[in-house]
Amino acid sequence: SPPAKGHHFLHIDDFDRDQLLAMLETAAEVKARLKADDQSFKPFAGKSLAMIFTKPSMRTRVSFETGFFKLGGHAIYLGPDTIQLGKREPTKDIARVLARYNDMIMARLFAHEDILELAEFSSSPVVNGLTDYNHPCQIMADIMTVKEHIGRYEDVKVVYVGDGNNIVHSWLRLAARLKMEFVCACPKGFEPDKASVALAEAAGISKISISHDPFEAVKGADVVYTDVWASMGQKDEADYRRQRFQGFQVNEDLMKAAGPQARFMHCLPAERGIECTEGVVEGATSIIFDQAENRMHAQNGIMLHAMGLA
Ligand code: CP
Ligand code: NVA
Repeated sequence: SPPAKGHHFLHIDDFDRDQLLAMLETAAEVKARLKADDQSFKPFAGKSLAMIFTKPSMRTRVSFETGFFKLGGHAIYLGPDTIQLGKREPTKDIARVLARYNDMIMARLFAHEDILELAEFSSSPVVNGLTDYNHPCQIMADIMTVKEHIGRYEDVKVVYVGDGNNIVHSWLRLAARLKMEFVCACPKGFEPDKASVALAEAAGISKISISHDPFEAVKGADVVYTDVWASMGQKDEADYRRQRFQGFQVNEDLMKAAGPQARFMHCLPAERGIECTEGVVEGATSIIFDQAENRMHAQNGIMLHAMGLA
């Protein structure tokens, strides 16, 4: 059954351009209120958020929990051993029970099908806090950060260097709604999902390309973005991936090839000396901590819209 009030937030392209911009503008307004220590704004008063995690997290857990709390609500952390999604009882039962107690459910899961099942059976809005396939809250925070540092949501060149993973898939879905040039520079065999590339191309808004030459790809980039080479669930492939990703490290030489306008972004956690260098992470072009902070603000905007409160 569909949510009684509001809507799920599962993929960026489930929304049109105006809806996405509205969420981002709400996020910026709420950020300004929190920065001004406005204690009167409590739209989540009396509301609760259940947060299901089957994977580790620092940013997602803390930004959702504190963000929801700062706006007056109560958030409940349900870690990997608590619910045991799909093991202790069926996912569809978990969805229906949690929705009886909570006004919203956020979940970080392995299989994307599991979040789709939660959403199908939950009568409260479900927010995707990362699956193996997508990380939409991250990319909403990222584009908010792009706006703050580069001055616009559109007409930016974003070059992602590394593994064609969940982060890339959500960038592609954003590129299906906001006009940009998006390049994924990755080793052969580590390209993003073909369906996600096709979806972004079919929207006809953005220029999308896949490259195997990072030095060529980054030229003129507004943003050079990377992520770990071995995502959660792939850590046993880390050594193999390190060999395959040689030449794809975001280091000082690559940032120089991008040009002086380029900013460095990383969703974090970062493995210094692997996909990026200490010098780039700590350097003047790095905006990673503004990016991390914006997780909380972007999600507040997303949740207010999901609950029909904005
Ligand atoms: N970027 C991100 O999602 O971080 P966590 O894995 O710490 O939540
Ligand atoms: N691609 C990474 C993102 C972590 C925030 C992972 O899925 O582990």
